[in-house]
Amino acid sequence: MDNSFDFLISPNILKPKRFSPKLRIAILASGEGSNFQELIYLSKSNKLDIDIKILISNRPEAGCILKAKKSNICFKIIKNSDYEKKESFENEIINTIKKTDVELIVMAGWMKIMSSKFVNEFKNKIINIHPSLLPSFKGNNAINEAMSCCSKITGCSVHFVEPEVDSGRLIMQAALSITNEDNLETLSKKIHFLEHKILPLSISQAGFMLRNDLKDND
Ligand code: GRF
Repeated sequence: MDNSFDFLISPNILKPKRFSPKLRIAILASGEGSNFQELIYLSKSNKLDIDIKILISNRPEAGCILKAKKSNICFKIIKNSDYEKKESFENEIINTIKKTDVELIVMAGWMKIMSSKFVNEFKNKIINIHPSLLPSFKGNNAINEAMSCCSKITGCSVHFVEPEVDSGRLIMQAALSITNEDNLETLSKKIHFLEHKILPLSISQAGFMLRNDLKDND
């Protein structure tokens, strides 16, 4: 991809904070896992002080599972269709996370809407990445919707998770122009490129806030 497009990241954080011991995280993902892969790379190359304790996916065929296998990262598949009730599905995830003893839960392409019970179980400890400039274009068709509305600017956001979908305190955002030449594929690639920049930095910001019991993102 041609990465020579202009973008703006806010807040303008350039480097992640250091953690010793490393920040223990769980990843929830349902898709290809390009964000997950970037986190694996940064962790293994000691550019980001995280310890990815587990990947949880609800889709056995998802690309993220393959990436976990290749990198020897512990993973667990928890399929919603294996449970009669959403509550039991979520309880299995809650129990798995609790057993794993992580500090932060990162939703990196997690395509299930979780109940308030789940969110409140890990209050202020779950972050999510979303491919729009929230609060615009919530939901699972964000890139398409931004294009269909002829928006001139879009981007991606990382936020703390609240029971209301795609809401919650913003940690970082990245913005870029939608040009006349863009189509869904080119714009998605650009947004992914920016996601891979802001998700690691947001993890470090959120981890710093958690470890220091801070309420504000600074
Ligand atoms: C990203 O665009 C993210 O914003 C959205 O799902 C996508 C996941 O991509 N929530 P990947 O699986 O990390 O490649």
